Amino acid sequence: MSLPNVTREYRSQCDGYQNLKLQSGSLSKPKATEVTIKIHAVSLQYRDLMVSKGKYPGVKSNVVPCSDGAGEIVAIGQDVKGWTVGDRVCPNFALDHVHGDVTEDIKNTGLGGQIDGVLREYINVPVHSLVRIPEHLSYEEASTLPCAALTAYNALLGPVPLKGGDYVLILGTGGVSMFGAQIALASGATVIVTSSSDEKLQVAKKLGVQHVINYKKNDNWDEEVLKITRGRGVDHVIEVGGPNTMPKSIKAARYAGWIHIIGFVSGGDNGIPVGAAIIKALTFRGILIGSVKQFEDMNRLITAREIRPVVDKIFPFEQATEAYSYLESQKHVGKVVIKVA
Ligand SMILES: NC(=O)c1ccc[n+]([C@@H]2O[C@H](COP(=O)([O-])OP(=O)(O)OC[C@H]3O[C@@H](n4cnc5c(N)ncnc54)[C@H](OP(=O)(O)O)[C@@H]3O)[C@@H](O)[C@H]2O)c1
Repeated sequence: MSLPNVTREYRSQCDGYQNLKLQSGSLSKPKATEVTIKIHAVSLQYRDLMVSKGKYPGVKSNVVPCSDGAGEIVAIGQDVKGWTVGDRVCPNFALDHVHGDVTEDIKNTGLGGQIDGVLREYINVPVHSLVRIPEHLSYEEASTLPCAALTAYNALLGPVPLKGGDYVLILGTGGVSMFGAQIALASGATVIVTSSSDEKLQVAKKLGVQHVINYKKNDNWDEEVLKITRGRGVDHVIEVGGPNTMPKSIKAARYAGWIHIIGFVSGGDNGIPVGAAIIKALTFRGILIGSVKQFEDMNRLITAREIRPVVDKIFPFEQATEAYSYLESQKHVGKVVIKVA
C-alpha cells in the first residue's frame, strides 16, 4: 500500500467539543525509529472532555485530541526491528513512558494533551511506545485499553498488587471503573460497585460483580460497604469521585487500606480529611496512567482471562462531537468509541 501524504484529523482550540474541526493535515514518512499507524478506532476519556473545554493543564495549541487509539502498522522507519506492516497495535498514552516511574519529561509526551493525539486517520509514533493488541479483541475494544484499562491495572496490580480475597470498592460505572471491576475479579478479589443507576448496576452484575450499591438511593453507601465487609472495610478503593466522595471512601476503607486517587467526577474542592486518614493509617496513591511495560503485563492478563472491554456505543468518525456529547451525558457504562477506519 502506498502511504498517503495527507490525513483527515480533528483539531481543537479547547473552546468546546462542539467546535472540533475536521480538516486535512499533512502526513510525513516515519522517521528511522518510528512507525506509521492507520488508526481504526479511538475511545474517549473524561480527560478528553476536559481538554475540549480548556480545563486540562498544559495542552498544546490547536491540538489533535484524544489519547487512546488502536490501529495497524502501515509503514516502518528504516531502523525499526521487531515490528512488521499489518501488526495490530496501540501507542501508549504517554509515548515515552516505557517503564518505571513517570517523570516531568514523560508526562509531557501525553497524547491528545501536551502533544497531538490520535483522533485522525494516520499517526507516526516512536517504536518504543507500541504495544501489541490481544488477539481476541477488535480494534474498537482495543482502543479502550491505553488510558482507562491501564490506569485501573496500575492501581490494582501496580507496586502493591491486590491479593486474592481482597475487597475492592469501585466508584461509578465509567471507563476506568468497569476495567477496575474486571481486573479485580480476574485477580480473585470480591468487588463492590456503586452507581447512580440500577440499570448500570445490572451491567456490573453481569460481569460477575458480587455487590452493588445505588448511591442515589443510598446516600450512606460507605455504611453499606462496611456492612458487606462485616465491619472491616475494603482493601482497595478505585477513587474516581474526588473531593466529594473522598470522606466516604475513607470511611469505607479498612485500617491500613489503599485509596487509589484517580479522578474527580463528583466535583467539590474540600481537601482530604487528614485526621481520618491518619487514624486509619491509610495509604493514598495518585495514579498517572502507566508504562508500556505495565501495558504489556496487563495484556497478558486480558488475554489469559479473555477479558472483553465494556463498549457502550460506537460512533462514526464524522460524528465525533456526538460521541463527546454522549460521554458528557454520563448515560454510558464502560467506554464510548469512535470508529475511524
Ligand atoms: N489518574 C489517571 O491516570 C486517570 C486515568 C483515567 C481517568 N482518570 C480520571 O478518572 C475519572 C473517571 O474517568 P473515566 O474516563 O472513567 O470517566 P467516565 O467514563 O466519563 O465515567 C464517569 C462516571 O463517573 C460516575 N460518577 C459520576 N459522579 C459520581 C459520584 N458522585 N460518585 C461515583 N461515581 C460517579 C458516573 O457513573 P454512574 O452513573 O454509574 O455513577 C459516570 O458515568 C475522571 O476524573 C478522569 O479524569 C484519571
